[in-house]
Amino acid sequence: MQIQGKTVLITGGCSGIGKIMGRMCLEKGAAQLIIWDINEQAIAATVREFSALGRVWGHPADIARPDSLDRALAATRVACPPVDLLINCAGIITNNLTFAEQSDTDIDRTIDINTKGAMYVTRRFLPQMISRGQGHICNITSSAGMLALPKMALYTASKWAAIGWSESIRIELDREKSPVRITTVAPYFINTGMFDGIRSFFKIQDPEAVARKALKAVERNRIYKGIPFTEHFIRLMQGLFPQRWFDFVFGDVCGLYTVMDHFTGRKSPGKPGMTKEGPGETQRETLPNAS
Ligand SMILES: NC(=O)c1ccc[n+]([C@@H]2O[C@H](COP(=O)([O-])OP(=O)(O)OC[C@H]3O[C@@H](n4cnc5c(N)ncnc54)[C@H](O)[C@@H]3O)[C@@H](O)[C@H]2O)c1
Repeated sequence: MQIQGKTVLITGGCSGIGKIMGRMCLEKGAAQLIIWDINEQAIAATVREFSALGRVWGHPADIARPDSLDRALAATRVACPPVDLLINCAGIITNNLTFAEQSDTDIDRTIDINTKGAMYVTRRFLPQMISRGQGHICNITSSAGMLALPKMALYTASKWAAIGWSESIRIELDREKSPVRITTVAPYFINTGMFDGIRSFFKIQDPEAVARKALKAVERNRIYKGIPFTEHFIRLMQGLFPQRWFDFVFGDVCGLYTVMDHFTGRKSPGKPGMTKEGPGETQRETLPNAS
């Protein structure tokens, strides 16, 4: 898809790679950029910052809440033509607890935003794209959606589901011979603040470079884009090697299974990408013992 002249809507467009991708779309000549984000203050600041680059609109929207999305949609439709490119980028990580320590609240919040949120948003634009015979949806997932990683079970679960969903609708559209395109993007850790504190053997990526590669994947109508490219070999290695061997090489030798041990996330509670409580401070719920 050529971005010039197109209407682009991005969720989570006030921070991290979402904000950079939005700016890059304007730099590439997008006719307008619509930002849906939960952070109202950041929306106002981003719209101000980008207004010199082109037409920018911002609407508060919690992608985990259909009623909030319906309000944002109604506000968006007043001023904007149909969306040509939808980028589902909003996402969160809540903490680095083991699954046994998680609360129902964090389970719901992670799945509601990282998995169901993209579905709710897409359902509001895909039928119109299909009937118009044009459109492109880019789903920002994660390499964690192909790996099993300790102390991020909720996040990995949410992203595995997001990849399966994104690929499934891509195949549905292909089988219907629809010109609407889906690009699934799965990046490794990026230096945006969301995963502050992690210690990674593999290079933590530059946000500008990841945003540039993700948009290039859209422009080339790529089906699936692992960033960096070596991410594409994860499934091959999982298929070829015994699980214990994979655990040893990637988990123990490369340290992937301890990557979250020193995770802090963004330091200030309530900042984008975190639950309000911040890591480790979420109220625990007492569950009846199963036995
Ligand atoms: N940072 C990484 O290392 C990394 C790696 C792989 C994939 N990703 C994925 O890339 C995407 C962007 O990550 P980032 O690091 O740029 O994050 P970020 O925390 O910098 O930005 C996330 C944005 O989403 C918004 N948001 C959060 N909850 C929302 C909600 N309920 N409704 C609407 N907006 C909401 C936030 O306000 C923020 O503007 C996420 O989906 C993340 O899971 C990130």
